Amino acid sequence: MHTIIEPFKIKSVEPIYFTTPQQRQNILQKAFYNPFLIQAKDVMIDLLTDSGTSAMSSEQWAGIMRGDESYAGSESFFRFETAVQNITGMPYIIPTHQGRAAEKIIFSIMGGKGKYVISNTLFDTTRANIEFSGAEAIDLLCAEGKLPSVPAPFKGNLDIEALEQFIMAKGARRIPLVIVTITNNSGGGQPVSMANIRAVKSVCNKHHIPFFIDACRFAENCYFIKTREDGYANKSILEIARELFSCADGCTMSAKKDGLANIGGFLAMRDETLAMQSRNLLIITEGFPTYGGLAGRDLEAIAIGLNEVMEEPYLKYRIRSIEYIGEKLDTAGVPYIKPTGGHAVYLDASAFLPHISPDQYPGQALCGALYVAGGIRGVEIGSVMFGKYREDGSLIPAGMELVRLAIPRRVYTQSHIDYTTEVIINVFSQRENITGYKIIYETPYLRHFTARFESL
Ligand code: F0G
Repeated sequence: MHTIIEPFKIKSVEPIYFTTPQQRQNILQKAFYNPFLIQAKDVMIDLLTDSGTSAMSSEQWAGIMRGDESYAGSESFFRFETAVQNITGMPYIIPTHQGRAAEKIIFSIMGGKGKYVISNTLFDTTRANIEFSGAEAIDLLCAEGKLPSVPAPFKGNLDIEALEQFIMAKGARRIPLVIVTITNNSGGGQPVSMANIRAVKSVCNKHHIPFFIDACRFAENCYFIKTREDGYANKSILEIARELFSCADGCTMSAKKDGLANIGGFLAMRDETLAMQSRNLLIITEGFPTYGGLAGRDLEAIAIGLNEVMEEPYLKYRIRSIEYIGEKLDTAGVPYIKPTGGHAVYLDASAFLPHISPDQYPGQALCGALYVAGGIRGVEIGSVMFGKYREDGSLIPAGMELVRLAIPRRVYTQSHIDYTTEVIINVFSQRENITGYKIIYETPYLRHFTARFESL
């Protein structure tokens, strides 16, 4: 078998600036040990996020020039609307400036005090928007999804039995919607199977609860369905996506992921009344319904990106390049969530740094160590992001302590990836020297973005 090569050539490049470990130690200290507070120019391999960091294609750049910036009825909007309708089969398409703006709109309408929004696992902004509306956010992930070292094909599945029980216990009237995140970003970028989507839909139908999909990484999820679920090997990604969305009443999307765009998002739905309510809020906060929070050129880039992302040579390369990192880490026994996800590798910081307790934030400490050792920027997905406090001020830790290394789409080459795995393995061989952190400043919502730490 041949090496699976990047299915693109590079036409435009950006410099990477090199720094020494000593320089990075100073930079990290000045940034209060929070990778979000480091300047991007001081990062060598930026795996903070796969969001908005994609390299656009020459077709997308051509679309940028074609963008129609008319306030109302822009041609770019209709091309965008057609692209989204073609994939989701949903009639009402509402553009927003990014995913969280779509979440803000939908949860302002459907959320509220005394309600519960159920998911496999909510991402941080989705959870924050639900909680901000007064509702409670409930994660019901399947059992295998909670076992980092045990591989399974669809570790993002929602626990159907737990869903039934929760609905019986709280009453369907208090559950305004169920939203399934594909792939499950907070739980290892793991996919959800078509069978699970169908099962969630059938429970929701029985109880008359609307079913939504958080579709940020829909194409990666569809590729996993194609390669791992019986009966899908001969279907195209578009056919699988259409089947998947046909189960849902609506979706939220951040086009900064599988839209292959640098900004953008949308809400899509089947219910006309809900669409009218959503557009009313859209006009107050985002913009007129034919542009939302976007320029016409952004709508063009998304319309093209949504089709490029479903091309199979691209998805094959994409999923394989992340699997490849896992295989390299296996040679040194580095612990990570198995199998590797669709957009990222999630290092298991609890197993990597067993000498650091959750209240000293092992994930954050590992992020710091990777940055100093190799200029690699990842993000903690653990007790900094999802931890809460008891009344006595002690930490209620997150379910897992992870470091996500998210791979931007079409940006890094195989040698960047080889370098990254060398740095991780090197840090692993000296892990006893890594110490924990203490929080010295934090905010009530989404504290990980701005929190400041002290090294212990
Ligand atoms: N839902 C999921 C599953 C996400 O991963 C994100 C963003 C959002 C919603 C919100 O979208 O950023 O466009 O407002 N995730 C990024 C990340 C930030 O790094 O994983 P947004």
